[in-house]
Amino acid sequence: MRLVATLFTAAVFFSLSLLDLGAHHGPEKLVFKARNGDVTFSHEAHVKRAKGDCKTCHDKLFPQSSTAPLNYKAGVHKVAEAKKISCGACHFKAGPAFASQGSCAKCHVKG
Ligand code: HEC
Ligand code: HEC
Ligand code: HEC
Repeated sequence: MRLVATLFTAAVFFSLSLLDLGAHHGPEKLVFKARNGDVTFSHEAHVKRAKGDCKTCHDKLFPQSSTAPLNYKAGVHKVAEAKKISCGACHFKAGPAFASQGSCAKCHVKG
C-alpha cells in the first residue's frame, strides 16, 4: 500500500513538473491564419534565440495570448516595420531578422 502511495505521489509530481515546463516556455508554435498562406510562428525557436528571456517580447510587443490581435498586417507589414512594433520590431530591412520585402514565402506557406 505504501509503495502504491509513493508511486502515485511521484507520478503526480512528474506530471506537475511537465505542466510547469509548458507554463514557463509558452507554446511550441502558433499558427496565424492568412489568405495568402498561413504563418507558422515557432515560439520555441524564437524563445531560444532570445536566450529564454520572455521580456524580449512580453508584454511590450505582444500579450501572452494567441487570440490577441497581432497588429502586423497593416500596409502589408510596412507600418509595423516603420513603427518597430509586433513582428516588425525585429523583422525589418537591415534588422536582426529578415524583412517582409522579398521574404513573403519564409512566413506565408500555402496549404
Ligand atoms: C520573439 C518573441 C517572443 C518571445 C521571446 C516569447 N514569446 Fe510568448 N508569444 C509571442 C507571440 C507573438 C505570441 C502570440 C501573440 C498574439 O497572438 O497576439 C505569444 C504568446 C504566448 C502565450 C499565449 C499562448 C496561447 O496559446 O494563448 C504564452 C503563454 C507565451 N507566449 C509565453 C511565453 C513565455 C513563458 C516566454 C519566455 C520563456 C515567451 N512567451 C517568450 C512571442 C514571444
Ligand atoms: C525579438 C525579435 C523577433 C521578433 C519580435 C520576431 N522574430 Fe521572427 N525571427 C527573429 C530572428 C532573429 C530570426 C532568425 C534570423 C533570420 O532568419 O533572419 C527569426 C526567424 C523567423 C522565421 C524563420 C523560422 C525560424 O523561426 O527560424 C519566421 C517564420 C519568423 N521569424 C516569423 C516571425 C513572426 C510571424 C513574428 C511575429 C509574430 C516574429 N517572427 C517576430 C526575430 C524575431
Ligand atoms: C515575418 C513573417 C512574415 C513575412 C516575411 C510576411 N508576412 Fe504577411 N503576415 C504575417 C503574419 C503573422 C500575418 C497575420 C497578421 C495578423 O493577423 O495581424 C500576415 C498577414 C498578411 C496579410 C493579411 C492576410 C489576411 O488574410 O488578412 C497579407 C495580405 C500579407 N501578410 C502579405 C504579405 C506579403 C505580400 C509579404 C511579402 C512582401 C509578407 N506578407 C511577408 C507574417 C509575415
